[in-house]
Amino acid sequence: MRREFKHKIVVVTGAAGGLGLAYARRFGQAGARIAMLDVNASAVAASAEALRTEGIDTLALACDVGDAAEVVAAMERVLAHFGQIDVLINNAGISARAAFAQTRLEVFHKVMAVNFFGPLYATKAALGSLTRRKGLIVTVSSLAGFTPLLGRAAYAASKHALHGLFDSLRSELRGSGVGVLIVCPGFTATGIGTAALDGDGSITRHPQSTVGRPASPEQVAEQVFQAARKNKRLLVLSPAGRIGRVVNKLSPALYEWLMVRAMRKELDR
Ligand SMILES: NC(=O)c1ccc[n+]([C@@H]2O[C@H](COP(=O)([O-])OP(=O)(O)OC[C@H]3O[C@@H](n4cnc5c(N)ncnc54)[C@H](O)[C@@H]3O)[C@@H](O)[C@H]2O)c1
Repeated sequence: MRREFKHKIVVVTGAAGGLGLAYARRFGQAGARIAMLDVNASAVAASAEALRTEGIDTLALACDVGDAAEVVAAMERVLAHFGQIDVLINNAGISARAAFAQTRLEVFHKVMAVNFFGPLYATKAALGSLTRRKGLIVTVSSLAGFTPLLGRAAYAASKHALHGLFDSLRSELRGSGVGVLIVCPGFTATGIGTAALDGDGSITRHPQSTVGRPASPEQVAEQVFQAARKNKRLLVLSPAGRIGRVVNKLSPALYEWLMVRAMRKELDR
């Protein structure tokens, strides 16, 4: 069965920019109406307005996904405005780049609040409507969701946790008609690197190491859109991501050695 998104209601978290905005635009181009949630109220309002000028029906809502009450209130507003939720894209996420030993506990809590509890809160709040609509949950993980990543232990932990949560939820939703797609983009040209937290909680000024040529948000959004149409369970993007997944499965020690070589500058301070 292929999914169609015309006239469907799609909720995208972290939709003000980067990948979230690209998902909002791509599903909007297919005829979906989009609820755009973001912690940055002015930026999400401007992005929703920009999509409206492209003919996409949007609703912008300020919402910190790490705050359960804000997420419940935002989903209630989506339901009051659009009447239903057909697709939830758990996209909002932050990165943190510092050695484990130099990372304060509150940074681990912050990263888990946004990257893990955000998708959990949003899914819990939307699940009733998603179930009635036989909808789709898309959760954005990363290559760091199933491999280690030097200097990003908090980020990798938060993304690993998503797989445990959403793979288990998928098993509970068998037969309900609700799909669960986990997406693992490779390095993508967005603002996530410059917004990353340092070990003390400030915005890091340390340059980000990347592997391979970064994808564009539009390329990722197209692949996610096609995977959503086809009801896929897992989408691993980028050649480095696909090779990394296989190498890590066959030989975690070899993967660790290769990854540390590629990322060793991460810990230079
Ligand atoms: N860019 C990459 O290389 C890459 C690779 C793999 C996975 N990802 C994942 O893709 C997702 C989107 O990342 P991006 O690269 O577009 O990042 P980005 O920083 O460009 O955009 C993230 C958006 O989320 C919003 N946001 C941050 N904290 C929030 C919160 N608490 N509540 C609501 N909104 C919040 C930001 O305001 C921003 O608009 C993240 O989950 C990230 O982990 C990105």
